[in-house]
Amino acid sequence: AIDTIDAREILDSRGNPTVEVEVLLEDGVVARAAVPSGASTGAFEAYELRDGDKKRYGGKGVEKAVAAVIDELGPAVEGIDAADQRIVDAALIAADGSKNKSELGANAILGVSLAVAKAAAASAELPLFRYIGGPNAHVLPVPMMNVINGGSHAESNVDIQEFMILPVGAESFREALRWGAETYHVLKGLMTKQGLSTGLGDEGGFAPNLPSNRAALDLLMEAIQAAGFTPGKDIALALDVASTEFFEGGSYTFEGQKKSGADMSSYYEDLVASYPLVSIEDPLAEDDWEGWATLTADIGDKVQIVGDDLFVTNPERLAKGLQLKAANSILVKVNQIGTLTETLDAVALAQRSGYTAILSHRSGETEDTTIADLAVAVDGGQIKTGAPARSERVAKYNQLLRIEEELGEAAVYAGRSAFPRFQG
Ligand code: PGA
Ligand code: ZN
Repeated sequence: AIDTIDAREILDSRGNPTVEVEVLLEDGVVARAAVPSGASTGAFEAYELRDGDKKRYGGKGVEKAVAAVIDELGPAVEGIDAADQRIVDAALIAADGSKNKSELGANAILGVSLAVAKAAAASAELPLFRYIGGPNAHVLPVPMMNVINGGSHAESNVDIQEFMILPVGAESFREALRWGAETYHVLKGLMTKQGLSTGLGDEGGFAPNLPSNRAALDLLMEAIQAAGFTPGKDIALALDVASTEFFEGGSYTFEGQKKSGADMSSYYEDLVASYPLVSIEDPLAEDDWEGWATLTADIGDKVQIVGDDLFVTNPERLAKGLQLKAANSILVKVNQIGTLTETLDAVALAQRSGYTAILSHRSGETEDTTIADLAVAVDGGQIKTGAPARSERVAKYNQLLRIEEELGEAAVYAGRSAFPRFQG
């Protein structure tokens, strides 16, 4: 059973405060979890509680959330069996009492929820992926490596937030990671030769100014080939447009021009015809359900259409999307919804409905590697956790290396099977 819960304010990868929670069980097991934080956050995400006291961290302190853990959430779950995750999470939700976790903060609640799961796993003497996923969890996800950062994650002129490389043709996760890292370094060399800045964005990808968004895709194609790989066969491409960030008053400001949803959709159709693109995330704004449905009907048989800001890992918003056929994939971020139980419920609903589910980091991360274990536990086949560089990103990839090693002969790398729609 849960004995005591403690919390502290630590720093995330952007140097902003975040919550870390520590759980002590009655059997002496101690576990901790740290909470990530987004920049291009969806309007419908669970509430991230920040102090707003401008004298500390520009208002971004989380002392209130830390106090909520110690004074409210801890007492609400102390004495409960840590293995009863659904009971624990229900108690956390009840202690908050609001619809979007705005009373005590989703950051406070998530820290407790994840730390309890880790403690329960340790107490059962199981690795986290096996504790959550059971004895059949054995599939290593394809890493969606974000090697060019734009949008709200960079200071550059590039509108699209993430340009990703996916080593779908590798034999193992270890090999996939190597291909990605090699391509990342070749890309850097190419950019240097072309006089482009190799400074980095928030997720460890390069953040150059470029003449167009297509120019970023062209750079990736060149880098993949120069690294000795075949685009599409060995390494495929994916985008997170994060289009809500440049959507205002009914239109998208893209490459300096005002575009309609229909303009954007035909742009994506052209991209899918020109590049080995397997996945496009948040192509349209977070409220444009109809536009999403039209785009999915048009190109959803060829490419994964991922709802991030659209679904915000929320089973209710996902249910609406399923009804409207708004997408065919969901991005899964634990802090968008705020408990492990609700996260797993969103994944289960997605997978039962023929949607893929992609475990994802946030642009503000920590050394916590829970999502690596979750990606294997839910057999999602895909993980989005940044460039193959910078420790807060690489921590997740390194954890997947450990899991693959631990699984030994039982390990299977998802590879192309994670993208049933991709024909390129
Ligand atoms: P965020 O970006 O963590 O800044 O929201 C990640 C994403 O949009 O997928
Ligand atoms: Zn996104």
